[in-house]
Amino acid sequence: MSDFIISGGTIVDPVDGYFGPGAVKVVNGKIAEVIKSKNSPKGDIDATGLLVCPGLVDMHVHFREPGFEYKETIESGARAAAAGGFTSVACMPNTDPPLDNQEAIKFVIDKARKAVVNVYPIGTLTKGQKGQELAEIGDMIDAGAVAFSDDGAGIQNGTIMRRAMEYCKMLDVIPISHCEYADLADNGVINEGYASTKLGLGGISRVAEDLMIAREIMLAEYTGAPVHLAHVSTAGGVELIKNAKKKKLPVTAETCPHYFTLHDELLKGYSTNMKVNPPLRTRKDRTAIRRGIAAGLFDCIVTDHAPHAYDEKQLEFDYAPPGMIGLETSVGLVSTELIAKNRITWLDAIKMMSLNQARILNIPAGTLDTGAAADITLIDPKIQWTVTEDAFHSLSKNSPYIGKELTGRVARTIVAGKTVYELG
Ligand code: DOR
Repeated sequence: MSDFIISGGTIVDPVDGYFGPGAVKVVNGKIAEVIKSKNSPKGDIDATGLLVCPGLVDMHVHFREPGFEYKETIESGARAAAAGGFTSVACMPNTDPPLDNQEAIKFVIDKARKAVVNVYPIGTLTKGQKGQELAEIGDMIDAGAVAFSDDGAGIQNGTIMRRAMEYCKMLDVIPISHCEYADLADNGVINEGYASTKLGLGGISRVAEDLMIAREIMLAEYTGAPVHLAHVSTAGGVELIKNAKKKKLPVTAETCPHYFTLHDELLKGYSTNMKVNPPLRTRKDRTAIRRGIAAGLFDCIVTDHAPHAYDEKQLEFDYAPPGMIGLETSVGLVSTELIAKNRITWLDAIKMMSLNQARILNIPAGTLDTGAAADITLIDPKIQWTVTEDAFHSLSKNSPYIGKELTGRVARTIVAGKTVYELG
C-alpha cells in the first residue's frame, strides 16, 4: 500500500499545536495532505482511538556497531526503535572503534540503508573519544554525521570543550555534552548519598554533573556557541538550565524516562539493570526533573537506549557496565508517568520526542507538513500492557521495567509510507 489515508484518529501536530480530529493522506511515501477537521474522508487505515503523530525522533541511542554486535546491531536497534514508535534515531559514537573519522561514519550510513528506520550517525568530538584532541568534525559532516559527542564520558578539559563548541558553531552542528567530571565522580557507581552509604557502593556526587553543566552553560554564554546537554539527572542541573533559558543562552537539554520514573533507593536489590550513567539520583532529584519537564525546561526526552548483554549485567554491581535499554518503553513511560498524571500534554510530549530533536539535529523529521516523508507514529493512549522481556525487539534485554504495567503504547510505525511495525 503506497498511497493511503489514515483517518478517524486524533492528529497531534507539534508544529502548529493542533490536537484534534482529522486525516493524513499519504501519496508516494510522502505526506500529501493533512485534513484538520471532523469532516475528513474515510480512510484505509482506521485510527479510531489512536493519536496520529509525526514519527518520533530519538537523538540519543547506542547501537553497538561496530564492535559490540552481540549487544545490538544497527539493524536490530532499528527494529527496537520502530517498535517504540521512533522513525529517526541518532546513534552515539562510543563503539569499537569509536566513530571518529569519515570511514566510520560512512560505515554506519551504509548499514543504515538496510535499517527499518532512519539511522543517523553522531561522530565523536575528540579523536578516539579520548578528550584530548578535536576529531575531524568537518570530514565527518561531509560523510553524514549529524551531531558530535563523546557520550559515555565528559570532556574533562575546558579548553577542548570550548574549541569543540566554537568549531561546531562554525560548521552549524550541535555538540552534545555528557556532563561528568571523572575526578569528582571518583569511580563511584551510584548516586552519592544515603543509598550509596547504606548499600556500601561508591558514590558519584551530583556536583560531578552539575559543575560540568555549569561549565558548558558558561562556555555557551562566553562564546555564543550552542551546546546540548545530554541526559540531565539532577535538581541542580534543572536549576542551571532554568537560569540559562532565562538568559536565552543557546543551550538545549534532554532528560530520559529513567530520571523521571526511578530513584536511587530502588537500588536496594542491587539490580544492575538500574545501573546507569549518570546514576539514578534521589527522589528529590526525580521530582525536580518532573517539574523541569512540566515547566518546559527540557527540550527533549531521549531514551539513552544502552543495550548490554545478560552476562555482562550479571556481574557484581561494581563491574557491570552502566546503561539500560529504553526504546520500547519510552512512550509507555511518558504516557503513564507524565501524561496520565497531568504533568504534560500529548502535544508537549510529541514536541519533546520529535520536532525539537529534529530541529536540534537539523534532520528532516518531526512534522506532518505537506511534502515531508510520511514518517508517522500511531499511539494508543489508553491501552494497558505489561512490559515483558520476550516482547523486546532489541538484542539485549537489560530493562529495569520488565513486569511494569503501563498505559499507552505504540500501535503502528510508518517510515516513508511503509508500515515497519504494527502492534499485535
Ligand atoms: O549508562 C550509560 N550507558 N550512560 C552512558 O553515557 C553510556 C551508555 C553506554 O554506552 O552504555
